[in-house]
Amino acid sequence: MQIAPSILAADQLHLGDEVQRMVEAGCDLLHVDVMDAHFVPNMSFGPSVVRQLHSAFPQLRLDVHLMMDNPESYIGHFAEAGAWGITVHAEIPGSPGHCLRAIRSLGCSAGLALKPATPAAQIQPLLDACDLVLVMTVEPGFGGQPFNTAMPQKLDDLRAMGWKGLIEADGGLRRTNLPLMAHHTLDIAVMGTALFLSPDPGKDIEEFHLL
Ligand code: DX5
Ligand code: ZN
Repeated sequence: MQIAPSILAADQLHLGDEVQRMVEAGCDLLHVDVMDAHFVPNMSFGPSVVRQLHSAFPQLRLDVHLMMDNPESYIGHFAEAGAWGITVHAEIPGSPGHCLRAIRSLGCSAGLALKPATPAAQIQPLLDACDLVLVMTVEPGFGGQPFNTAMPQKLDDLRAMGWKGLIEADGGLRRTNLPLMAHHTLDIAVMGTALFLSPDPGKDIEEFHLL
């Protein structure tokens, strides 16, 4: 299993050092939670943070999760800033399909995210435009929330629909629930609180890589 620390849980006053710590701990990607205070009731990072992260860590895949009402206006900015992957939500007012095609046209991995209440079946028509499906295991907007135990079933639903691409999960992932998610074919685990507050993230990631 690949591990993507979420910088939402990092010490923002020492972000570069925090990312360096995760790189040294062996993380596979870095998850950047972008929030616009409309799609979710919180605000976070913009393209300039992605640009600086890419400049400081050019080898690190930046996995940008757009929790935004109008991601289509910002896809180009994040791609140009150095995003490896860009994920938009299935629940946006606009066209997720249009966003996915735009993301791919800019050379980034195209991800589609599902809130807990959104059934996997809703995105069947969009799967051909995706490289990754992000299953939210909490309600998007804040780190440190409890894991939604109904979500492993959604991974099975995606596989039953014939999805053979990457599945990523985000929210409330811990050592206690990661083996269960691995059993349900999770490929990438986004972990914020569990990693940035861990006394030994390197040991944790080494263990999680074996799942
Ligand atoms: C919710 C955020 C969180 C964060 C990780 O919108 O996307 O899921 O990345 O949260 P924790 O701290 O629970 O790992
Ligand atoms: Zn996220």
